Amino acid sequence: MLVSIVVPTYNEKENIAELIRRARSACSSAGLDFEIIVADDMSPDGTADAAGEALSGCKGAVLRRTGPRGLAPAVTEGFEAARGDVLCVIDADLSHPPEAIPALARAIGDGADLAVGSRHVEGGGVEGWPLRRRLASRLACLLARPLTGIRDATSGFFIIRKAAIEGVALNPRGFKIGLEVFVKAASRKYVEVPYVFRDRVKGSSKLGSRVMAQYLLQLVRLFLWKTARIFEFTRPSRKAGV
Ligand code: GDD
Ligand code: MN
Repeated sequence: MLVSIVVPTYNEKENIAELIRRARSACSSAGLDFEIIVADDMSPDGTADAAGEALSGCKGAVLRRTGPRGLAPAVTEGFEAARGDVLCVIDADLSHPPEAIPALARAIGDGADLAVGSRHVEGGGVEGWPLRRRLASRLACLLARPLTGIRDATSGFFIIRKAAIEGVALNPRGFKIGLEVFVKAASRKYVEVPYVFRDRVKGSSKLGSRVMAQYLLQLVRLFLWKTARIFEFTRPSRKAGV
């Protein structure tokens, strides 16, 4: 099994080399076959060059994206470029511990279709977030409850079998590509693997009020998508020409 690790980046020059170094070390020690795909939106700080250097001697690529900017479209493009049968997504800012990638991969090896790095199962948590951000994150997860049983529905750290999202139209608008995948993927079998989210030390977060508005819109779109699916399943099937 080849694991394609997709890392979306925007102005992560200060973090990307360490992320790549730690991911390489953790995956090699665990005996994983992996590649690293950095999906960069032409960051003005030179992230792409730093990533290219850190990738030397490692399978993978740096995508210098000129298409529509954004976290979700970058991840989607990373998926398209991936050669692995298993896809992993991790942030570049070291908030998600790359040392947890082998545990996520093991869950897939054990038969899961999807393994989600989770702050909201036993052993998981958040470090360094003010109460306001903790509450906002909890509320965001709560709002997604009718859509998925996954407790950390807004997680951006996950691994999935490529087959589970083949033929699935992922809407690349918005920030939460994870939620899009969790709701739409044909994956019936998922697990949540605990990890502790650590607030970034270097660089700045791209989360702002625009991202929150995008999230609410995404929730509405997914509710509509799910409702339409339910009707499709319950409607008696019509034969062509009848
Ligand atoms: N290519 C690209 N384009 N990457 C981006 C963009 C963009 O427009 N915006 C953000 N990124 C990258 C960042 O460089 C980082 O690697 C990752 O996406 C997450 O961005 P942050 O700005 O650090 O987001 P966050 O810390 O607020 O939220 C993250 O953590 C949440 C909790 O796990 C995101 O990953 C969320 O999806 C996640 O839910
Ligand atoms: Mn972050």
